[in-house]
Amino acid sequence: MNDRDSFGSQFGALVAMAGSAIGLGNMWRFPYLVGTNGGAAFIIIYIVLIIFITLPIFFSEYLVGRISKANTFRAFKKLAPSSHWGIVGILAAISPFLILSFYCVVGGWSLYYLLKAVTLQLESPSADYSAMFTNFVSGKYEPLLFLFLYLFLNGWVVTSGIKNGIEKFSKIIMPLLIIMVMFIAIWSMTLPGAGAGLKFLFYPDFSKVTPHTFLAAIGQSFFSLSLGCGTMLTYASYIKEKSYVVPTCIYTATADTLFAILAGMAIMPAVFAYGISPSQGPGLVFVTLPYIFSHMPLGTLFATLFFFSIFLAAITSSISILEVPVTFILEEFKIKRKTAVKICLSVITVTGILCSLSEGLLKNIHIFGKDLFDLFDFSSSNIFMTTTALLTVIFVGWKMKKGTVTNALSNNGKRKINPIYVTGVYYTIKYIAPVIVAVIMIRGLF
Ligand code: TRP
Repeated sequence: MNDRDSFGSQFGALVAMAGSAIGLGNMWRFPYLVGTNGGAAFIIIYIVLIIFITLPIFFSEYLVGRISKANTFRAFKKLAPSSHWGIVGILAAISPFLILSFYCVVGGWSLYYLLKAVTLQLESPSADYSAMFTNFVSGKYEPLLFLFLYLFLNGWVVTSGIKNGIEKFSKIIMPLLIIMVMFIAIWSMTLPGAGAGLKFLFYPDFSKVTPHTFLAAIGQSFFSLSLGCGTMLTYASYIKEKSYVVPTCIYTATADTLFAILAGMAIMPAVFAYGISPSQGPGLVFVTLPYIFSHMPLGTLFATLFFFSIFLAAITSSISILEVPVTFILEEFKIKRKTAVKICLSVITVTGILCSLSEGLLKNIHIFGKDLFDLFDFSSSNIFMTTTALLTVIFVGWKMKKGTVTNALSNNGKRKINPIYVTGVYYTIKYIAPVIVAVIMIRGLF
């Protein structure tokens, strides 16, 4: 297709990819994982694993998108005509619905808390923030209202397209997000008693490192770099030919990791300064932190900045997830982008409502022992995304020609990259990555 949309500049593409990578995973999971897995020891392991394992997987996904310049399904079809590999692309286009069903519910929560902060409702030190959270999320109307608002905002950005929507939006939002989180970090680190939080994050304790640490690090890096659901494949398919593959992926991974560390420096010192034991996930963001904000000077200001940051980090990720099925539908069924967005959002509205209500009204509905929220979370991370990642590396390592892969990595020789590195990456994709992804998959399932 000649009129295929594309990112306007390499920098814009990079910011959008960083926007996809930087999300809730960086804010509410990474800091806790670091602290409980040996601090700096974990950070070192995380970085080494990204360099040797996750980046080659990232390259694989990226290459498939960039060579084919097509949606997830068409990409595999183009590279392996008359084969069944297109199924991987379909799998990749299904996971976004599962992920967005709960990710957008949380996005809605962040909007609600932002509103609460702005309207000075997070100021009372004696409030029961745990009960406040439970009451809110188990409600029938409010969480749905904010879910709809959040979905609408996603639809608005994605409808405007790649260059005029996602790229423009990310270019405004990402700097703002980074500045806000830096500001929170500086303030957090200057609170009395903040040192314990920094120690939690950075004191290297190799005795806490177990085999589990390695798996946790790899799993986190996959989620954080948005791998396994066609996000990076789809974004790469919109990136212009002249952008270099290897540096783009490396910059994205670097930005993502630095931001995750920064988020840790914003959150943990404050948590420790108030003598609270660290945690992760919704409990950290919507219960612990509001409690802390309510106890500190200028709490409302920081609560506002913080929930705004959570919202921005989430939306630049969820638009990237939404773009996967949107590109798929608009190209395969030759319909307008706007219609494709409407179709996807209609589905996610329904599944999102179910997820949201599973915190209250539908709490008793359990499938495979999980409520719907957890089921969507579990099946996307542990079944769909791992399967897609596994099949993608097998495809790149075993189905594509070695020359095609190595040429693409060096942009057909235009970018000078050490041939030893390229060969190393290729064999990692072929032999090591499938084994590692398979191990993660098996561990996730049992
Ligand atoms: N990386 C994002 C985060 O850290 C989430 C995300 C965006 C994602 N796109 C994805 C996760 C694709 C898995 C697959 O929150």
